[in-house]
This record gives sequence, C-alpha cells and structure tokens, in this order.
Amino acid sequence: MQNVGRDIMDWSERLAKYSEPEWADKHQLTCTYLTPAHIQTAEEIKALMHEAGFDDVSMDAVGNIIGIYRADTTLTSTGSSTAAVKTLLTGSHYDTVRNGGKYDGRLGILIPIACVAELVRQGRRLPFDFEVVGFSEEEGQRFRATFLASGALTGDFDPAWLDQQDADGVTMRQAMHAAGLPGDMSQIAQLKRDPARYLGFVEAHIEQGPILCEGELPLGVVTSINAGVRVTCKITGLAAHAGTTPMRMRQDALLAAAEISLMAESRALQDDGSVATVGQMQVPGGSINVIPGECVFTLDMRAPFDDQRDALVQDILDQAQIIAARRQVRFEFNEVMRAAAAPSDPTLQARWEHAVQSVGQIVFKLNSGAGHDAMKLHTIMPQAMLFVRGGNRGISHNPLEIISEADARLAARAFLALLDDLQTHPLA
Ligand code: GLV
Ligand code: MN
Ligand code: MN
Repeated sequence: MQNVGRDIMDWSERLAKYSEPEWADKHQLTCTYLTPAHIQTAEEIKALMHEAGFDDVSMDAVGNIIGIYRADTTLTSTGSSTAAVKTLLTGSHYDTVRNGGKYDGRLGILIPIACVAELVRQGRRLPFDFEVVGFSEEEGQRFRATFLASGALTGDFDPAWLDQQDADGVTMRQAMHAAGLPGDMSQIAQLKRDPARYLGFVEAHIEQGPILCEGELPLGVVTSINAGVRVTCKITGLAAHAGTTPMRMRQDALLAAAEISLMAESRALQDDGSVATVGQMQVPGGSINVIPGECVFTLDMRAPFDDQRDALVQDILDQAQIIAARRQVRFEFNEVMRAAAAPSDPTLQARWEHAVQSVGQIVFKLNSGAGHDAMKLHTIMPQAMLFVRGGNRGISHNPLEIISEADARLAARAFLALLDDLQTHPLA
C-alpha cells in the first residue's frame, strides 16, 4: 500500500472540484443534496469505485453510491453457498456543510475504496461481500431531513420529506426527478437492509475535534456517538418603527432569539459534555429601521447520553417559553432531527482496537461529539468507528479541515488490517 496515502489525498482533491457555483466562485466547497455539484461528485465516486475494481457500482433511489466487492465463497466457513455469504457494510457521506472541508464524510468512502484497490492488486477476495456506500446526505443542509440517506437503509426515510421544499421552493421529489431519481416512496422503501444479511457497519471518519491532534495520535477508536436533537424555531413579535417605538414597548423577535441563544449556551455549560448551538438565525424581510417582527433560528443540542440530552432539550425549550412570555412574543419550534446516542458494538470496537495495534499505534479510545451515518445504522446492526486525526487542531466544518498523507495511509492500513482480522477470525 505504498502510495495509498497519496491516492487518498488526490482522490479527496478530485471530489472537492465540485462545488455549488456561488461557493466555487469564492474557492469554497459546498456540496448539498442533489445539486449539480453533488451529482458530479457522485459520478466521480462511481468512477473511483470502477477504477479500484469493485464488481458492482450503482446509484440507489436516494442518490447513495453503492460499490460491492464480492466474496470468494470458497473462503466462507459454510462453503460455496452464496445464500450464506454475509456482507460487511461501510461508508460515509459525500455531501458537505456550506464552505466545509474536503474530508468530513468523504474520507470514510475513500479509505475503503483504497482497500478494495489493494485487494484487487493482491488478487484477493474476502470471505464476505464488502459493501461500500457513499451516503448522499448526512449534513441536513438543503432539506431538513438529516440522515435521509442512511435512514433509507434503516427504513427511516419519512415519506413527508419528498414534499419538503428547499430555500428556493424546490421539493425533494422535484430535486430527485431533476437528478434522474424516481422520487418514489415504493422504490425508496426497497432500500431497507435486512440486518440478518450483515456482519455489521464500520465507518472511518476524520475526528473533527482536537483530541487526537493534541495527543499526537494518528488514529482513535470510537466508544460511542453523542445523542442529538435539532429544532427549527420561530419567534413572532411585532414589527414596528425603530425610531418611534420606546424601548419598553417593543416586542422584538430578534432580541428574544438572542436571549434564548445565550440561555442555551449557559444551560449547556452546566453539564459535562453537553453542547447547544444556534447555527442559523434570520429576520425574514427585515429592514434597518424596523424592529424585528419575526425571527427564525435553529437549535442543535447534543449530549453523551440520551437522558442527559433529553434534560438539556427540555430545559432549553422550557426556558425559551419563559423568555418569550416575558418579552411578549410567541415561541414555536419544530423538531427536525432526533438521534439516540450510539455506543459502539464491543466486538467490532475490539476489532478496530486490534487493527490500530497491528499498524503499530497506541489504542486510544474517545467518544464522538459529531453525528455520523453510523448512528442510523446502529438502529439495525452492530457498528463501530475509526477516527483519523485532523490537523489544524482538528478544526472541521471549515475549509481549514486537513489530514496528512501519512495518517491517510495509516488509516487505510488499519482498515485493511480490520478486513484481514475479520477473514482470519470470523465474527461468531
Ligand atoms: C455532522 O457533521 C454533525 O455532527 O452535525
Ligand atoms: Mn459534518
Ligand atoms: Mn461527517
């Protein structure tokens, strides 16, 4: 695997060429669900899979790219019966946040592609099918339908999403049709995987935090993924003249939202490991000389455990109502995402630990503050993740996100070691 680190870095650049026009103009990477840049990225992933030597490469009904490297059935413990061959599932997402990095998600598609390229080079097959998925959507950017791609595999694709509109009034169904997808629930429902056919799900991902970087550790083994809830919020106050309305008579929607944001910060700070973020805030139709009559904003709230997350969410939403009542504005919210904490499967986690050791690295365990496709797969099959160190103190959701060629190589070697281990010591 001499050149594998260089290959992964080059492939990341190849995918990063496709960005939505207004962002590309500023040399920024934005690749949201089913935009032309997103479809071009998907085509590039397909090309990479073909070049690597996958047996089947296809796009499914929600835009996931599925690459299959078939088993050598003579290697399976049950002999040559194809019906008995199980599948190891892996992958990550290829959509990005706005002005995001090149590795968040994509690295977890490229590393297993590099492994297949290596297996092909060695003329080897595994005793199980190896299915690599480039998930089309994980970031919840264009539509409020976070994890729709992995959700299609777990049977959690909400049919109502097809009628949801993006900021330009385009429905998801229309976006699917424009991308050549059926936009039809009966075909999406068929994407649901039967867990009995799977060994489990493993995902490699850039850490997106400072821990491995600060610890000078190239790889980390994930113990659990934090729970999260996202809500969209709307405050309705009263638009009025900015010059004539006395301060004591105002029903300023933006100031209520600002106070709620600060309250959410204080509440999250009370816990060990809780976080709360207002990532978007707008005054629709606002003017420089008008007191904001309406304010819309988002709240993203996460914690290591479901009960801690639930208490955080409850307290923030209760306090928001109290703030709104005092300010004489109306506070409404709509939950758009709820994901349970996802502890790693002990057996698969131990396999990652062994893989990390076998490439000469210390086993360092950490939990994930970021959400991942593995959280969805967790609902139907065992899962465990490998983290790869990010440079620049681990910054992510930022164009400064970076990994090193040496770490990419180590991660690919660790992934191949995991595959070797699953071959020599099959899961019970
Ligand atoms: C995904 O990147 C998330 O954790 O928000
Ligand atoms: Mn992300
Ligand atoms: Mn990600």
